[in-house]
Amino acid sequence: MKTILPIAICTVLILGVLTVNERGNDTTGSASAEEDLKLGERIYQENCAACHGDKGDGKGPEAHRFKIKPRDFTAGIYKFRSTPSGSLPLDQDIFRTVTRGVRGTSMLAQLQLSERERWAVVRYIKAFSKRFKEGKPGRAVAAPPAPSPNGKLVALGKSKYEEGGCVQCHGPDGKGNGPSAKDLKDDWGNPISPADLTLKPFKSGSNPEDLYRTMSTGLNGTPMPSYEDAFSPKERWALVSYILSIATHERPRGMMGLVGEEVDGMRIDMRAAMAGKMGGGGGMMNKDMKDMMKDQRK
Ligand code: HEC
Ligand code: HEC
Repeated sequence: MKTILPIAICTVLILGVLTVNERGNDTTGSASAEEDLKLGERIYQENCAACHGDKGDGKGPEAHRFKIKPRDFTAGIYKFRSTPSGSLPLDQDIFRTVTRGVRGTSMLAQLQLSERERWAVVRYIKAFSKRFKEGKPGRAVAAPPAPSPNGKLVALGKSKYEEGGCVQCHGPDGKGNGPSAKDLKDDWGNPISPADLTLKPFKSGSNPEDLYRTMSTGLNGTPMPSYEDAFSPKERWALVSYILSIATHERPRGMMGLVGEEVDGMRIDMRAAMAGKMGGGGGMMNKDMKDMMKDQRK
């Protein structure tokens, strides 16, 4: 009974989303900016405010449940970017996070939303921070093609791992247990742990391109630095090869293959869906969903 109930709830949710999609799949139409902002606001209230808060300050009514706290959008500090350290993100960066979610956290892929709804909510959350009015994001850090992986590249990556001080936080074997690991805090004063690099999936994806982006930009608001200045593109690709050579294990999976706090996020998203609140419709098996399911299997 204990396991049947969540499965039953999931089935209801999936069927619910499928039905909602029948009518909600309009990504066309030339809505005015004002209509878009209204749409963004509705989508935000229905799908995001429970965690991120009405005012976007990360203090929604459900936020206390999670160890990894929902983002405070008023600060305009974004972890997952293609832009240099300290910079604002590009719209595409926020869109990617909303589409793919942050693995292992309660921030799930928001695939119940159509593409247009996701763009609208991206614009809406930017308006919470005056940083977007005052400045522009930097250019995306260039990602030259990856060299084909080989033993030499992995060895170079291992030496850069030591040289770059990764050991200090992530530990000698990458398990997230370096000497500084225990005392780290994020910019909001919450304790934060260095990732265990032996376990997939990573928060912002486990593809080589995702890891290269993290090496190049760092994660703003956290102690994870950028290595754009310290290491050449080849050396950053070598680090990626090294990380992938040690990331040989999977995080334990719960219901529907969810990991970590994703399970708690699903409970909240399901509650919203059952209350008939969740907006609707990117097509349950749209391309994003297929990509995500492929990613889930990695
Ligand atoms: C169940 C709770 C929950 C819901 C619902 C939720 N989020 Fe999140 N969100 C989080 C958490 C937790 C994080 C922080 C993850 C981290 O820091 O590792 C986060 C992070 C983010 C980020 C990452 C920003 C960065 O640092 O790069 C974006 C963007 C975001 N959320 C947008 C949204 C939008 C838009 C919605 C609604 C469509 C939404 N979230 C719904 C919990 C939630
Ligand atoms: C000062 C401490 C510190 C140093 C030095 C550091 N990291 Fe991190 N790293 C972190 C923290 C903290 C996180 C977790 C951020 C989070 O969960 O939001 C992290 C996360 C990561 C992630 C996971 C990204 C994701 O999407 O989940 C990777 C990969 C990573 N670090 C690799 C490295 C490598 C390689 C080096 C050295 C070249 C390095 N780190 C140096 C603290 C550090």
